[in-house]
Amino acid sequence: MKVEPMGDWKRTHTCGDLRESDIGAEVCLMGWVNRSRDHGGVIFVDMRDRYGLTQAVFDPGAAGDVFPVGESLRNEFVVAVKGKVRRRPEGMENPKLATGMIEVLVGEVKILSVSEPPPIMVSEEGAEDERVRLRYRYLDLRRPRMQRNIIFRSNVNRIIRDYFFERGFLEIDTPVLSKSTPEGARDFLVPSRLNPGMFYALPQSPQLFKQTLMASGFDKYFQIVKCYRDEDLRADRQPEHTQIDLELSFVTEEDIYALIEGLVSSVFEGSLGEKLETPFPRFSYEEVMLKYAIDKPDLRFHLEITDVTEVIRGSDFKVFEGVIAGGGVIRGIRAPGGGKSLSRKQIDDLIAFTQKLGSTGMAWMRVTETGLESNIVKYFNEEKQKALIAAFGAQPGDLLTFLAGQLTDLLPILAQTRVEIARVMEMPPLKKYSFCWVTEFPLFEWDPKEKRWAPMHHMFSMPRDCDLDRLETHTGEVLGRLYDLVLNGVELGSGSLRIHDPVLQKRVFNIIGMTDEQAEDRFGFLLEAFRHGAPPHGGIALGIDRLLTAMLGESSIRDVITFPKTQAGTCLLTGAPSTVDRLALKEAGVQIIKQRAVGEAPATPASNDEV
Ligand code: AMO
Repeated sequence: MKVEPMGDWKRTHTCGDLRESDIGAEVCLMGWVNRSRDHGGVIFVDMRDRYGLTQAVFDPGAAGDVFPVGESLRNEFVVAVKGKVRRRPEGMENPKLATGMIEVLVGEVKILSVSEPPPIMVSEEGAEDERVRLRYRYLDLRRPRMQRNIIFRSNVNRIIRDYFFERGFLEIDTPVLSKSTPEGARDFLVPSRLNPGMFYALPQSPQLFKQTLMASGFDKYFQIVKCYRDEDLRADRQPEHTQIDLELSFVTEEDIYALIEGLVSSVFEGSLGEKLETPFPRFSYEEVMLKYAIDKPDLRFHLEITDVTEVIRGSDFKVFEGVIAGGGVIRGIRAPGGGKSLSRKQIDDLIAFTQKLGSTGMAWMRVTETGLESNIVKYFNEEKQKALIAAFGAQPGDLLTFLAGQLTDLLPILAQTRVEIARVMEMPPLKKYSFCWVTEFPLFEWDPKEKRWAPMHHMFSMPRDCDLDRLETHTGEVLGRLYDLVLNGVELGSGSLRIHDPVLQKRVFNIIGMTDEQAEDRFGFLLEAFRHGAPPHGGIALGIDRLLTAMLGESSIRDVITFPKTQAGTCLLTGAPSTVDRLALKEAGVQIIKQRAVGEAPATPASNDEV
């Protein structure tokens, strides 16, 4: 087995190019051995590159050592062949393959590179553990699905850039070594050798820089940018993720909605050929929390939550009355047709589902032509039963489910139960891609642990004009000029109109417990920029990894990222993070006080089902 240099051989076609119209042509192909088969003395090798597969034929009668070299080829060898394109014999065509009508009869061959037996089969969609895929990522990335995803990603990036450039935006990059600013997650810190004891932080987002750029007069900014957050990871979170980040001066919410709806429509149409309906529906935070119990509702299913506390109040059902007396609420979900289609076992499973999430149980009633049916109906008089049917807008055949408890405990249970009901009932999605805007979020939320107000999104968002005089007095009621973009129950993006008045910005800092000194220390440069003439401005950032995951129908953002981290924040390919030698630590002025032993579990243990 001889590995040869490429020499002056020149690739004439890719492995996806050749068609019947090329029959008779002399070609030179280069690519990987996807698979080789010995068919009664003739060797068939599927050559692969990112464009496709082409069948190369090694005939025992070929000149020189072509045939023995063909016999020696193994999966993932890199080969170059020269030969003639010919029609495949009748019955041997493969209509599933773009090149399936032809094959290349090899006249000359070179092995450009050999491969050890690959630990994962590139030609087969992997059923192996994801850790193995991440460990041998370069092989995993050769697979058609991952090639499709990465190529798709590149295509989407191009569409995004074209869209913004056509509209007069500037792509401006911002520093990665930055100042530590709390934005919800922990910062990744980088020690400064030149300033011992000092640290840079990797930016959680370019928020402060893009606002500063507005003060500098760059009124239409965008950037496809990496953001770094040291947070606990989940299927839709990575320690470094990529955002489409933008900021504009002299705009209102409407400008942002139209711009983003146009962007997302261009991306879907340009990469999937999918036409989206715009404008996207809009909901206030109050409305989504009531109807869907979550600020990122999955609207592919028409299932709504109804508050029936007042309808039920005064019934004979002790459990509910106890909850109401304790300041709790009763909320229910009407499952259209579920009274007929769901079996008792399925309802019991739903009850168990809610209990796993922490409910004390789930009550239910079937709606029939004659009224309500279940073992608790007897506790509700006729009038209450009628009122319940009316409150839900229930029809015969429906199932009504009820969950009771303190509102904050109940919301996550309701939200997940709603999705579970849709799943169990196999409700067909109303739309493949269901977008919506959620607006009018409270500007502040109470942090019971820290016992202080915290910004619901971030601390640079503008309150509504009508709340300006009541920030300090009615803090919990103040609404912000905030908006989230949601797709199929996933928060895709978040943004706001910003404060550009330094006095108002300081008031917000004070409300969240920052003294003037702390505010100056952390954000002095922004406040100062605002004191030198800052335009009204606003913006948004969309998570590209999440967008691509939804578009490609993947279940994890790791499948749209070339080299992702595991849930424990490690890169199985490179072995990052790793220890560094003592000299490097000394130079950085860093002393390790506790080191994780090799094999010791990480601080946040990974669950079994997620990498
Ligand atoms: P936010 O923190 O909401 O806003 O982030 C914007 C969007 O980025 C995506 N995202 C993530 N994706 C993967 N892994 C993560 N760890 C992760 N964190 C966030 C989400 C999210 O909606 N500076 C503000 C934006 C602004 O106000 O303009 C910001 O970063 O899709």
